[in-house]
Amino acid sequence: MTDDRIVSGASDDENDESFEMSLRPQNFDQYIGQDDLKKKLKIYIQAAQQREESLDHVLLYGPPGLGKTTLANVIANEMGVDMKTTTGPAIEKKGDLVALLNELQPGDILFIDEIHRLPKEVEEMLYSAMEDYYVDIIIGNDDATKHPVHFDLPPFTLIGATTRAGLLDSPFRDRFGIVERMNYYNDRDLEKIVKRSAKIFHSKIKEEGAHEIALRSRGTPRVANRLLKRVRDFAQVANHDEIDVKSVDTALNALGVDKNGLDRTDIKLLSTMIDFYDGGPVGLNTLAANIGEESETISEMYEPYLLQIGYLKRTARGRMVTRAGYEHLGRKYPETN
Ligand SMILES: Nc1ncnc2c1ncn2[C@@H]1O[C@H](COP(=O)(O)OP(=O)(O)O)[C@@H](O)[C@H]1O
Ligand SMILES: [Mg+2]
Repeated sequence: MTDDRIVSGASDDENDESFEMSLRPQNFDQYIGQDDLKKKLKIYIQAAQQREESLDHVLLYGPPGLGKTTLANVIANEMGVDMKTTTGPAIEKKGDLVALLNELQPGDILFIDEIHRLPKEVEEMLYSAMEDYYVDIIIGNDDATKHPVHFDLPPFTLIGATTRAGLLDSPFRDRFGIVERMNYYNDRDLEKIVKRSAKIFHSKIKEEGAHEIALRSRGTPRVANRLLKRVRDFAQVANHDEIDVKSVDTALNALGVDKNGLDRTDIKLLSTMIDFYDGGPVGLNTLAANIGEESETISEMYEPYLLQIGYLKRTARGRMVTRAGYEHLGRKYPETN
């Protein structure tokens, strides 16, 4: 998913790619936060290495920009194996999958991003590949020559990443031995990420400046890095040789990113609910029509963070703005709610 919001966790492929490569942590020491997950993965990796086996298949899920692709790379580096990278929609036919699997060396990792978008027949072919390291393929193109061929594979690790784990069928999900949800980052970890990135950029930044960016990054490393990049531009043009709270505030206010990382659309969403629906409950489609966005865009791009910080809640009757949401907008919470 790609969009042009500065606070979006989704990658804006053209602008982000080379910039993200330069910032991407390579090992567990550089990978900041997600401590519980890292602790578990280190044990699984060490155990697999001691047994001289490939690592169990891994499924990473959670909102965009939290470090799923980065973590897959870190796992490959820590295992000391090669990783082939592809995406669900890029594997159109069974033959595409066989070609990828054919290139794997024992212990290698196959990383499939957006794994919820794999075609069904490819997914089903992965079942035997994951479980018993073989695929059955049909060779020949007419009835007389057609025959199945059993194709053995080296032991390998599949790492899948998805923002929509709920869309995976359970027989598929069950074949991943390690299933982990990525969580939003706390301010302290985001601050570390900002400082690390500033160092790589050779930008000087004050502790409070890094903290301010962290507070406005929606719990998301990709957003933190993107905000830092913009703030750096503003600071440079203003001749500030060190980024401080004031330069962060000036830049992010100009970009319409508020104190808690909400942008104009988030604010519009909340204020529409307050002004037209008394804070809710209001259905997703009604809301979407009102603010001129797709329902899916709201549920995937806007809501998760607003729910996370408790400005919005979901009820059986629809979405509602919470007291904290009202207060963030400087509005009075109707005590009858
Ligand atoms: N734990 C982390 N520590 C430091 N930087 C991170 C971390 N996780 C992500 N990043 C940064 O955020 C960017 C986006 O991460 P990525 O792995 O592409 O997210 P996802 O695949 O979940 O969308 C990376 O390029 C990296 O610079
Ligand atoms: Mg990714």
